[in-house]
Amino acid sequence: MKRVGVLTGGGDAPGLNAVIRAVVKTALDVYGCEVIGYRNGYDGFLDPQGAMPLGYDSVRGILPRGGTILGTANRGNPFARKVMVDGQEKIVDASDDVVRAIEAQKLDALIVIGGDGTLRIALELFRKGVPVVGVPKTIDNDIGGTDVTFGFDTALGTATDAIDKLHTTAESHQRVMVLELMGRDAGFIALHSGVAGGADVILIPEIPFRYESVVKKILRRKERGRPFSIVAVSEGAKPVDGEQVFSRPGDAMYVPRLGGIAQKVGEHIERETGMETRVTVLGHLQRGGMPSPFDRWLATRYGSAAVRVAAQGWFGRMVGLDSARVKDVPLEEALAVPKRVNVHGDGVLTARSVGVSFGDE
Ligand code: F6P
Repeated sequence: MKRVGVLTGGGDAPGLNAVIRAVVKTALDVYGCEVIGYRNGYDGFLDPQGAMPLGYDSVRGILPRGGTILGTANRGNPFARKVMVDGQEKIVDASDDVVRAIEAQKLDALIVIGGDGTLRIALELFRKGVPVVGVPKTIDNDIGGTDVTFGFDTALGTATDAIDKLHTTAESHQRVMVLELMGRDAGFIALHSGVAGGADVILIPEIPFRYESVVKKILRRKERGRPFSIVAVSEGAKPVDGEQVFSRPGDAMYVPRLGGIAQKVGEHIERETGMETRVTVLGHLQRGGMPSPFDRWLATRYGSAAVRVAAQGWFGRMVGLDSARVKDVPLEEALAVPKRVNVHGDGVLTARSVGVSFGDE
């Protein structure tokens, strides 16, 4: 292995720079390879300025930094690329151009750091002959084939901190505080931070809720001398007889953007309980900032392992965590079924055991 490429795609997550650093150091120190970074995801292959040689100097000091020195793109899908044809916008399949551009780069391996969408593209490119190795990134923790994605732990810290802060002001003012958290169709951030922060109600996409049940829980607390409550709502949560709430529809380039369910839940609670209610949307704070020590440790292990997997020639695979061990699995297997909260697992059971309502009782 002489020349290794690396790119970051999709939404950013804390720990991307730690992976890039580990890839570069392992490739240089252990294998004596050249490393090339590609800017803004797969777009980097179609951009004449997209390739960026990475050496020790490029990665110095980036371990604790959020974001990605390579840039990333949510819309950089080579299979659905926006181009202008005769003054008109068109969506075209540019994957063959990308494959040719990758071949022209003479890469022995391409390490793709991304979430579900980016890794699916990696799998398609692998099927077209590109020697890819995947690294699972996302604050949502919704990728199969691994116990955890890097970025999740940091987002969890941010979400738990927000719940802690809402708790003190909720208690002072005797209010209900509703917090909307990210996660798309997976409720891991809301479930884990809700339990860690002592939320009273946790609403997740995997467990459709009833408004009456949420109201009942809050009123029961009030009757018992607890005239404030914390409600952690995953952006993908939905009522039993309703739909998810979107702030923007999807199109050929973008997936639909979830957002707005907490506002609905908050309005309902205020109307039905008569209690003052405030809504906070934590948003992209969950994606930013310094990675936690756990994420730096995991990201470094993933980056280094990805280079080892590439050096073995084991392409079309993704590194992941299995109990305490870093392993590699076929990308196809990892992406076959998206990971979701196990509604019968010990996490949900534990939350229920400590008095959390999921709004389904
Ligand atoms: O997948 C990560 C994530 O942060 C989701 O939790 C959220 O729904 C989405 O990305 C937001 O995407 P954007 O950055 O395009 O607003």
